[in-house]
Amino acid sequence: MAKALVVYATRTGDTKNIADLIAEGIRFEGGEATALNVTQVKKEEDLAGYDAYVFGSATYHGEMMQGTKTLLFLAEKAGLEGKVGGSFGAFGWSGEAPGRIFDTMKNIFKMDMVGGPLRLKSASLGGGTQMAQDYGRNIGKKISGP
Ligand SMILES: Cc1cc2nc3c(=O)[nH]c(=O)nc-3n(C[C@H](O)[C@H](O)[C@H](O)COP(=O)(O)O)c2cc1C
Repeated sequence: MAKALVVYATRTGDTKNIADLIAEGIRFEGGEATALNVTQVKKEEDLAGYDAYVFGSATYHGEMMQGTKTLLFLAEKAGLEGKVGGSFGAFGWSGEAPGRIFDTMKNIFKMDMVGGPLRLKSASLGGGTQMAQDYGRNIGKKISGP
């Protein structure tokens, strides 16, 4: 079964909620999805063995959270070239983090990115639940499809 790893950085839980919905969407399409807090990813080997990687961070002070910066340096060495990728994050008004993560995965890691970065004010607002699940479905289709 195709496997996806969803890693999130959050302060108040919004980005975790989005991560869980993305993981659900991946499972709807027959993929196996694991959602981890960025604090649970400690070494390069923790990133080994997945077909897709979806990284997310909330935006604080115009930036991704520190844990995600550390994760991206770890991921740089993990050989993710050609793997399926996506990015996401909760935000209040400017939401820089998902785009920055997406660009790094695309330009530095040379991953096969699905769609664009997913930015949500909250998973519970304005169709956010559906959008997050659909984002996961698209990742799931890509890794589990014929
Ligand atoms: C001190 C502080 C700074 C913030 N800075 C930004 C910001 O620069 N841009 C933005 O879009 N949202 C900003 N936010 C809003 C958060 O991104 C938003 O509340 C988000 O839903 C938090 O996600 P989390 O629950 O995953 O931590 C800020 C919030 C706080 C409390």
